[in-house]
Amino acid sequence: MGPFMGQSKGYKILTVGLVFLVWVLYFQMSWPDSTVPRPPAPRPVSRSASESTESPSLLDSLPQELANLTHLLYWPLTPEDEGDFLASTSPQASTYHLRGPAQTSYALRGYLEAILIARDHRGRPKTHGGDLFRAQLLGPDLKAGLPGDVQDLENGTYLLSFPLLWAGKAQVQVRLIHSSEAVGVLRRIWREKRATVDFVGYFRGPTGTEETVICNVDPQSTGTRRPTCQYRDVDSGELWFCAQPSTLPCSSLVGHSSGRYLKVTTPQDEALLAGKVTDKVLPQGISPIQVRMAAPGNSSLALSARPPCHPGLPATKPSGFYHQEVWHSLSCSSRSFPTVDSILGCLAGHVVHMMGDSTLRQWWEYLRDKVPSLKPMDLHATYQTGPLMAVETTRNIVLHWRAHSWPLRSLRTPVASLHSVARELGGLAGGPHTVVVLGLGAHFTTFPPSIFARRLAGIRAAVAALLAREPRTLVVIKLANTGYKSVYGSDWLTLQVNRLLRAAFADLRVAFVDAWEMTSSLAVPDNIHPGRLIVGNEVDLLLSFVCPT
Ligand SMILES: *[C@@H]1O[C@H](CO)[C@@H](O)[C@H](O)[C@H]1NC(C)=O
Ligand SMILES: *[C@@H]1O[C@H](CO)[C@@H](O)[C@H](O)[C@H]1NC(C)=O
Ligand SMILES: *[C@@H]1O[C@H](CO)[C@@H](O)[C@H](O)[C@H]1NC(C)=O
Repeated sequence: MGPFMGQSKGYKILTVGLVFLVWVLYFQMSWPDSTVPRPPAPRPVSRSASESTESPSLLDSLPQELANLTHLLYWPLTPEDEGDFLASTSPQASTYHLRGPAQTSYALRGYLEAILIARDHRGRPKTHGGDLFRAQLLGPDLKAGLPGDVQDLENGTYLLSFPLLWAGKAQVQVRLIHSSEAVGVLRRIWREKRATVDFVGYFRGPTGTEETVICNVDPQSTGTRRPTCQYRDVDSGELWFCAQPSTLPCSSLVGHSSGRYLKVTTPQDEALLAGKVTDKVLPQGISPIQVRMAAPGNSSLALSARPPCHPGLPATKPSGFYHQEVWHSLSCSSRSFPTVDSILGCLAGHVVHMMGDSTLRQWWEYLRDKVPSLKPMDLHATYQTGPLMAVETTRNIVLHWRAHSWPLRSLRTPVASLHSVARELGGLAGGPHTVVVLGLGAHFTTFPPSIFARRLAGIRAAVAALLAREPRTLVVIKLANTGYKSVYGSDWLTLQVNRLLRAAFADLRVAFVDAWEMTSSLAVPDNIHPGRLIVGNEVDLLLSFVCPT
């Protein structure tokens, strides 16, 4: 896994916007090593702020699955916002009711269906769709819950549907996460702003002099009108840009950290995204119901015979449900690993490579904390970004975690520790003892969708190559989970990001852990870093794929 700078064979460093000669000189200075892959033709980048970042050649190179972003990211349009806050959807005025007549009890395996009418703050029914509601069926006494299906009829009416999967009491709860008008703000900013955050790059010269500049996913967002340093991964095409330091060369970039959250909203936008209308529970529209089992003595759970967990399973809706705090997958017979021995027995002989963000680091931390004999080794690693490693020497278990590369928001971290996921995958031999877990998404909501689509295209190609050379490798994709509710990160943005994740890997033999649904099913507040109960269930599902029987 080559370090990023200088001696790295895989990265090309070039200065955009300089004349060709300077560029060649630069390239030679940075790359005395003749084994460096040949450079691409230099592409001067226009400095005009209106120029699109969407280089057609890059978007054209997206795999078919990701090419039609318009189609993939479809969401009903919100009519032009006239700045009338009272016309936006109100969580207090919106209501829902049973679709059919109320019954004294409901049959297990049946469905509960409801109709939701969205209304504005004046109490008038909405005439267009696009609101982000999240509906749950909860069984508080049974510590049970599942995410309901919300179908947008695009005329202000929504159909809610809940499969009845446990016997006993069940209660519908519906929340308005964002009004359609708020979604309109998020969509506009997501599509139109190049970036809603920036980053800091730390350069260090041979004499120890340091310079810091702004870095970002595109040259325009580095806040400079001067030339920029471009960092491009040869294998994956991943790009990164920093304003050129005034005295030091581009090749002296050594450190990375988050920068600022940029001001991207107007007061009108902020009213629509404010806490008092965001993530608000609707007045209860349906009394608690009683679900009865088919016959006394029958199972109280509606779990049909399911295949053992394996990659390549078709998705189900929902992907599972909680009962007695245990997540049951509907697509495969997920298992519980409640004891240290059961976890050790499953992981014995495996090397697990986790790559992603801090929500995936939680998996590593969960296993480290749960299994005393899994010893963390990287005492000197930058904890936020890793690399982290834990080993169990008697059972031959190695557990790696490292942060995905930029655009990671983190404390200052060495650039050499930020490895491209695609590149790391390229360095794995794979095999029946190798488990790869990818968990990306949360750090990509601050850029237009094409940025994540491009990144996924590279990762997808690397996963496909890994599975082609060693089909017995287990690759698990953790979808992004619920949590943030702001313009920088929001459940709506996460939903979109998850569509890209699903699409990118849809036709590959990988397993999904639907962390979105696993964090959408219980009566606990959303948290970008979910609690131990949820993380434990996510890890159990991972282990179910490692040890299906
Ligand atoms: C992308 O999807 C949209 C909406 O489904 C469709 O109208 C359009 O023709 C598609 N474009 C391409 C290039 O397939
Ligand atoms: C909304 O659309 C559905 C399906 O087309 C229709 O059945 C329903 O009557 C419509 N509701 C309103 C209020 O227009
Ligand atoms: C319910 O129990 C009966 C008798 O014990 C059995 O024949 C039937 O298959 C069971 N049904 C389900 C869905 O488990």
